[in-house]
Amino acid sequence: MIVSLRVNGQDVELDVEPDVTLSRVLRERMGLTGTKESCSRGECGACTVLIGGRAVVSCLVLAARVREEITTIEALADEALPLRKAFSEHGAFQCGFCTSGQIVRATALLRSGVLRECADPECTIRKEMSGNICRCTGYAPIVDAVLQAAGRS
Ligand code: FES
Ligand code: FES
Repeated sequence: MIVSLRVNGQDVELDVEPDVTLSRVLRERMGLTGTKESCSRGECGACTVLIGGRAVVSCLVLAARVREEITTIEALADEALPLRKAFSEHGAFQCGFCTSGQIVRATALLRSGVLRECADPECTIRKEMSGNICRCTGYAPIVDAVLQAAGRS
């Protein structure tokens, strides 16, 4: 079937199987390999992208069902510069496999503005990013990096 998607500001039409996931389309049909796929069942967050501005795990989304604009890590390079810098400064990644998803999820969190005013930003970050699993870092450096990018460290 032919699906029409808007990805990172561009309209694309692709001939895909009805049951193919968005993560597969992004990686295998569009070459957007910044979106990682690990568990393929919605548990790790590695495949997180923005759909209509909301952070979504793309391994659970059928490409044919997406109607809103998709934004991947590739299109967030400039906006996420403070996050990228903070991740680097805090050593918030080791293998890096989870990092794209972490940055995408954190971008959505920063955009929401909730970290500017909440009484306990660390607790909020831990709760909001709990769907993004990291096997390497123990999470503290990731939380510290997001706090820094939010101006709350
Ligand atoms: S690969 Fe999608 S949540 Fe793990
Ligand atoms: S840095 Fe390795 S899984 Fe997060």
